[in-house]
Amino acid sequence: MNNLFDLTGKVAVVTGASSGIGMEMAKAFASQGADVAIIARRYDRLELLAKEIESMGRKSLAVKCDVTKEEEVKSAVTTILDKFGKIDILLNNAGVASSGSVENIEEAEWDRVIDTNVKGMFLMSKHVVKHMKERKYGKIINTASICGLIGSIGKSAPLHAYNASKGAVINLTRGMGATFAQYGITVNAIGPSLFKTEMTERSLGNESFLNMYNSICPAGRLGKPGELNGAAIYFASDASSYTTGQTLFVDGGWTSI
Ligand SMILES: NC(=O)c1ccc[n+]([C@@H]2O[C@H](COP(=O)([O-])OP(=O)(O)OC[C@H]3O[C@@H](n4cnc5c(N)ncnc54)[C@H](OP(=O)(O)O)[C@@H]3O)[C@@H](O)[C@H]2O)c1
Repeated sequence: MNNLFDLTGKVAVVTGASSGIGMEMAKAFASQGADVAIIARRYDRLELLAKEIESMGRKSLAVKCDVTKEEEVKSAVTTILDKFGKIDILLNNAGVASSGSVENIEEAEWDRVIDTNVKGMFLMSKHVVKHMKERKYGKIINTASICGLIGSIGKSAPLHAYNASKGAVINLTRGMGATFAQYGITVNAIGPSLFKTEMTERSLGNESFLNMYNSICPAGRLGKPGELNGAAIYFASDASSYTTGQTLFVDGGWTSI
C-alpha cells in the first residue's frame, strides 16, 4: 500500500515558523519528505531552522515576512515560487495571543490580534490560492484554537480578541473549504488546546492556572511537543483528499466536555 502520509516531492510553506508549533510542524513536514519554505519576522531564527531542515536532506528557504502586510506577503510568495516552482501545502500558523475583555482592550491591541490571526491568513491564502487553482491541487491548513469554539479556559482571564480571531479562523476555513474543493484544494484547521510555547509560557508558569487547566482537561495534562504533528501531516497529505472545511481539535478532550 502507498504511504498515504508521504510528502515526498511536495513543497510546504509554514508561517510562524520561528518558534513553537510552526517550527515543530515545519520539521514534521520535512520528516515526511517535503521541502519547506519558512516565514516569520525573526529571520535569524528562520536561518537556523532552515539549516536543520537541510540537515534532514530536504530543501528549505527562510523568508522574512510580516503576514499582516500585503506587499511583504506578495513578495514572499513570489520568492518561494521562484525557488521551488510550486506550493503544494500552506500552513497558516502565524499568530499572537492577548488577554482582555471588550471592556478594556485598546483598539490597537484588538487590531494587532485580528490583523495577525485573521488578516495574515487571508493575505497568505489570497496569494497562494491563485497558484494552487492553476495547478488544481493544494492543501491549506489553518491554526485555530479551542478558544475559537469555547468562550473561556475554565475561569481564566478573558481572551475576547483572541476568541474573535480564532472563531473567524474556523469559519473562514469552512468558507474556503466550500469554495475551493472544486479546484482540488482542501482547507482544514487544527484547534489545539494548550501547548507550551513562547505564547503560553507565562500563563503556564502560573501554578494555579496550570492546576485548573489540568483538573478540567479530560486528558489531565498539556499537549506535548509533537502531538499536533499527526493532524498537520494528515491535512497536508493525500490521506485527507476528501476532507475539507473541517477543524480537528487536538485538545486532550477539552471541547468534548
Ligand atoms: N501554544 C498553544 O497552546 C496554542 C494553542 C492554540 C492555538 N495556538 C496557535 O498556534 C499558532 C502558533 O503559536 P505558538 O504557540 O507556536 O506561539 P509562538 O511560539 O509565539 O509562535 C508564534 C509565531 O507566529 C509568528 N508571528 C507572529 N506575528 C507574525 C507576523 N505579523 N508575521 C509573521 N509571523 C508572525 C512568530 O514569529 P515572529 O515573531 O518571528 O514573526 C512565531 O513564529 C498561533 O496561531 C496560536 O494562536 C497555540
